[in-house]
Amino acid sequence: MKIFITTDAEQTKELGELLAEEIKGGKIICLEGELGSGKTTFTQGLLKGLGIKDPYTSPTFVVMKHYKRKLKGRKLLTKIRGGVQDIYHIDAYRVTAKNVLDIGWEEIVADKNNIIIIEWANKIKKIIPQKSLWIKLKLVNPSHAIPAESRRTEASENKREIILLSK
Ligand SMILES: Nc1ncnc2c1ncn2[C@@H]1O[C@H](COP(=O)(O)OP(=O)(O)OP(=O)(O)O)[C@@H](O)[C@H]1O
Ligand SMILES: [Mg+2]
Repeated sequence: MKIFITTDAEQTKELGELLAEEIKGGKIICLEGELGSGKTTFTQGLLKGLGIKDPYTSPTFVVMKHYKRKLKGRKLLTKIRGGVQDIYHIDAYRVTAKNVLDIGWEEIVADKNNIIIIEWANKIKKIIPQKSLWIKLKLVNPSHAIPAESRRTEASENKREIILLSK
């Protein structure tokens, strides 16, 4: 288990970018944490670190976004159909495990070249393989816990605890 504290959104993105350097094909990255905890922000960093270009539109209304990663250098030598790797970003907030199964989940998971990032992964836990990497994001000082008079001046509302649970 590794624990990180970030103090603004940019740092959370950077952490995602750093993690991307260690992500290999076949990896499933599961993000859990309450509304606004930074799952999408972290995902944007991951995607950037994986070499995907903006814009990363949110999959909120489409279950899943699909990106193609063009491999360069060493990664290209060791991999994959024409130097392209598939990256899938799922937001499970409004969907069921069945919805995800219905969009070809088993096939996507079975392909060791794919990288899958899932927000609200805890909502579809029953279909997530054991070996997946789980990341928990937490608001360190939720705004209701901060005295009203210090809310605007304190940066503490921007603190997030990001816990890498397994690998
Ligand atoms: N340290 C931080 N890390 C990440 N986001 C932060 C941080 N501090 C402030 N923020 C802000 O908090 C918000 C996090 O939103 P984000 O969409 O990433 O959360 P989320 O977990 O994906 O929420 P949802 O469950 O609604 O999808 C953004 O507005 C971001 O700018
Ligand atoms: Mg989100």
